[in-house]
Amino acid sequence: MHCWSIILAAGSGTRLSEATNGVKKQFLEWKGAPLFWHSAITFSHTTRMRGLIFVFPEEDIEEATNTLKNLDFGRRLGLPWKVIAGGARRQDSVYNGLQALPKECTHVLVHDAARPFFSAALSNTLLDSLSEGAQAVIPAIPVTDTIKVTQNNTVCHTLDRSTLRACQTPQGFDKKMLIDVHNKCNEEGWEVTDDASIAEQAGFTVEMVEGEATNCKITNPEDLAMIESKEPPMPI
Ligand code: CTP
Ligand code: MG
Repeated sequence: MHCWSIILAAGSGTRLSEATNGVKKQFLEWKGAPLFWHSAITFSHTTRMRGLIFVFPEEDIEEATNTLKNLDFGRRLGLPWKVIAGGARRQDSVYNGLQALPKECTHVLVHDAARPFFSAALSNTLLDSLSEGAQAVIPAIPVTDTIKVTQNNTVCHTLDRSTLRACQTPQGFDKKMLIDVHNKCNEEGWEVTDDASIAEQAGFTVEMVEGEATNCKITNPEDLAMIESKEPPMPI
């Protein structure tokens, strides 16, 4: 197995931009380094990780690359890395990331830089599952809220909570399969919010491992309190 990770940091953080004065969340400073760097450090502590692709907004590439070079001075990550430009939607950024993977890469973890709290143990569990033959594997946790399907502010029906799971990243895939299903996704015009959805729609089995309750995504202004109060999973 030869695994790389794609760290997605090419979003515009619109839901947070008012609270951050326009700073995109992946570039917010947390304990002395931008948010995206914390995911890179955690991957660098993941056994069997062979390299990283950072996906940044086109307009931020130069500055983000310089930041990365400074942070990785003395090869602190101990991994090769590349920087590429993202696309308009998350799925376009993943697609671009997939094109940048080296030929020898056989498996890939796709991760949102907006989830800086995941552990190296979680990525190791995902890699274990891939090495045992899973084509797609995602971390998920039980849902604690009651979830209803609604329309026009009226409840249509209530879902059976015992079958529901909240899904996280990193998500692990066989590289060839993920490239094939992303091509199909583009041909069919599917709109998705994660990569497992593409594999599912293309008919592949997506396996699940226990996610981490602490592996939250920074999305809304109230989530900023998490980066103020929490300690990073790894020293930077
Ligand atoms: N992302 C990306 N390319 C995009 C959109 C999103 O790489 N075109 C990344 C984000 O940087 C983030 C992750 O995908 O790490 C999850 O997306 P989300 O939480 O929706 O972040 P944003 O799209 O930046 O935020 P918003 O939807 O509020 O604009
Ligand atoms: Mg978004």
